[in-house]
Amino acid sequence: MRQPTQPDRNIALELIRVTEAAAIAAARWAGRGDKMAADRAAVDAMRFVLGAVAMDGIVVIGEGEKDHAPMLYNGEHVGDGHPPEVDVAVDPIDGTTLTAQGRNGALAVIALSERGTMFDPGPCFYMKKVAVGPRGRGAVDVNASPTDNLKELSKRLKKPVQELGVVVLDRPRHADLVAEVREAGARVLSITDGDVAGAIATGWPNSGADILLGIGGTPEGVIAAAALHGLGGEIQGVLHAHSDEVRAQAEAQGYDFDRVLTTHDLVASENCFFACTAITDGDFLRGVRFYDFGATTQSLVVRSRTGTVRTIETFHRHDKLQEFNAAGF
Ligand code: FBP
Repeated sequence: MRQPTQPDRNIALELIRVTEAAAIAAARWAGRGDKMAADRAAVDAMRFVLGAVAMDGIVVIGEGEKDHAPMLYNGEHVGDGHPPEVDVAVDPIDGTTLTAQGRNGALAVIALSERGTMFDPGPCFYMKKVAVGPRGRGAVDVNASPTDNLKELSKRLKKPVQELGVVVLDRPRHADLVAEVREAGARVLSITDGDVAGAIATGWPNSGADILLGIGGTPEGVIAAAALHGLGGEIQGVLHAHSDEVRAQAEAQGYDFDRVLTTHDLVASENCFFACTAITDGDFLRGVRFYDFGATTQSLVVRSRTGTVRTIETFHRHDKLQEFNAAGF
């Protein structure tokens, strides 16, 4: 008989303090039209709380290069320096424009996996993606046409193509994709930003989203892979060069623009962690609400090893928090 093993540490439960802090800080800027200020506030808050997490982390997916970013640059050490050694992916705001404009769908996000297991996108900012939830896993192929992917997914989900919801970033580069999806008979669920949330929605019951298609950020693809690992879904990507210069630079560093990157290639771990907190309202979480005396947040915590998915609602009391940290979260 298999012996039960003692549950070990779920570091994602600690990481939600990091995304909660970032979300609250960012939400103060929601609708104020200042992307930079929102991003800086979220980065500072995330960084402040990250220092308290017992881990020896290196930022693999961060806010760009050291010289260009306010903080949380790629290669930065985070955590208190104690084991475990981990790779860290952060996106203090996925959806900075959404936040600045007070629109739905912005998240504060973090993902974590064992050291050396996260795909480093290097100069490859964009990736062609397909993402599906648990029931669609294995039915799609990033190199297949949208029409073929929709047909296969329809068979797998046992629902007509006409009932499939396809998340697509609203970009001119997706004009043909959108036309083909509509021609195939499916519904386009257009998002102006935030394809991490879009990918997660495909794995979220009753979100209306069945598949995400199109070209989005590679860092966001890695982060979505960590989430989909735990949700039981799948993401595939192929790097996309948006200029000859990027292609030449990336190829010189060994990046292959024909290779299909699977969920496992993006995060090669059976024990990765994902946490996010909604800044503004979304398909699966409610955004930050402020009160006279505090704020509430809703977060998602996912661990791939156990497949446990938690949504956590937290009440933050300003007066108490300010007693022991000046930042007040
Ligand atoms: P930021 O919040 O970092 O600006 O990213 C938002 C986002 O919509 C991502 O979710 C997406 O992957 C990427 O931008 C798409 O890039 P682009 O806006 O250049 O098409």
